[in-house]
Amino acid sequence: MSTGLLEDFQGSFVDELEINLKNKKAIIGVMGLGYVGLPLVRALRNRNFKVIGFDTDTQKIKSLEENRSYIKSVSNEEIKKFRQDDNFIPTHDVNYIKNMDAILICVPTPLTKYREPDMRYVVAIAERIRQNLRKGQLVVLESTTYPGTTVEMLKPILEKSGLVVDEDFFLAYSPEREDPGNLLFETAQIPKVVGADHENSRRLAVALYEQIVPKVVEVNSAATAEAVKLTENIFRFVNIGLVNELKTIFDKMNINIWEVIEAAKTKPFGFMPFYPGPGLGGHCIPIDPFYLTWKAREYGLATQYIELSGQINGRMPHYVIERLREEMDLRFSKGLRGSKVLILGMAYKKNIEDVRESPSLVVYELLKSKQVNVDFYDSHVSEIPEIPGHRELSGLKSIHFSEESLKTYDAVLICTDHDDLDYELILKNSKLVLDTRNATRDFSKDYDNVVKA
Ligand SMILES: NC(=O)c1ccc[n+]([C@@H]2O[C@H](COP(=O)([O-])OP(=O)(O)OC[C@H]3O[C@@H](n4cnc5c(N)ncnc54)[C@H](O)[C@@H]3O)[C@@H](O)[C@H]2O)c1
Repeated sequence: MSTGLLEDFQGSFVDELEINLKNKKAIIGVMGLGYVGLPLVRALRNRNFKVIGFDTDTQKIKSLEENRSYIKSVSNEEIKKFRQDDNFIPTHDVNYIKNMDAILICVPTPLTKYREPDMRYVVAIAERIRQNLRKGQLVVLESTTYPGTTVEMLKPILEKSGLVVDEDFFLAYSPEREDPGNLLFETAQIPKVVGADHENSRRLAVALYEQIVPKVVEVNSAATAEAVKLTENIFRFVNIGLVNELKTIFDKMNINIWEVIEAAKTKPFGFMPFYPGPGLGGHCIPIDPFYLTWKAREYGLATQYIELSGQINGRMPHYVIERLREEMDLRFSKGLRGSKVLILGMAYKKNIEDVRESPSLVVYELLKSKQVNVDFYDSHVSEIPEIPGHRELSGLKSIHFSEESLKTYDAVLICTDHDDLDYELILKNSKLVLDTRNATRDFSKDYDNVVKA
């Protein structure tokens, strides 16, 4: 049982941090300055918090120190503005951790090659924080993960420091809902879910996020908040799987899935549109559901919807290639082997440069394996970076896009519907266009060289 004196002492930690969070005097650490971390820095700086950004990637730190952004949605000018008067300090020096009042963890949570949670980045940052943890700090995990991570993995590592959760330091989970390329919603406009198993921790995490987002949704455990994030992404994953399956069925019936969805979405209740495509991409939707699959096994349970949707979504690049083969055969009596195909769009979705898990990579590899001469054009991806699982594609460069170059291909395959492409020009100058995103919808009635697939 605590003495009154100890309670006062702990109470003063909590009160002091709460006051400092509310009057923006607290220094916030963002651990991992990637697609999630850097926009989070912006949200914090725009609310006048002083931010220390920690990343193990020294190239990223150097870039930021030179006011160069490596993420399209954050400009160089913004970085420069954030850094004025040392209000944003990018660093790879762990000693800075001691200076942080709140520590927000945004490191990657990929899958291993056995499609199990790869927790090494979370463990590595947790160890670094442990070595520098001091009384009165708030630690919040923002990386997407399985229910139980914060309490079962993070808490024991941090408590190895000798400090006790909710007494000496505070611990919560708050998932990121960042949607790269979505101009309607940036970090500071999206409600944030916050969960913690202890009262003080929850109170402090809520106090922090209330300063930067319009609405904080409190749930009463970290595991619940972890489950919220997975539920959101599994919902998308399963519904995209459903619509992808419907596409393959309606294609055979000669029914245009896009027309179906446009009409169905006029129902004002009970229907939400999801769109088919050449497969699933990005660091989140294709990966996160399998975090639950792994955790469910601990309870002897199978995640059947996830497995099935994974199979359907995973087959889509093959379906696209099969449709291309059929059309080439039908129209030109030509097989794929030896033909010349241009992929439009390597990014996993429109108007961004991120190629992680992009189905275009798989489409590229499948075409290559069929001895197709394949090139790509993407105004956002001039060169394919090194990506685990696709290392042989690293360094491949986008072609120069022109009417003349389009004419040299047997087929053009639209995998990503970037807004800056002139789709009518593409239809006008291509022999065959396979459109997996309905990007040519405004012009396709006037052209008979386009196939929706
Ligand atoms: N990208 C998205 O759209 C998105 C949206 C919502 C949630 N998330 C989740 O957010 C988390 C981060 O994703 P991301 O897309 O920003 O990843 P990212 O790869 O773009 O960025 C992660 C950063 O963490 C750094 N890092 C790795 N290990 C580190 C360590 N030990 N210490 C400090 N920094 C380290 C990397 O160098 C990298 O800069 C993941 O859990 C992801 O699932 C991502």
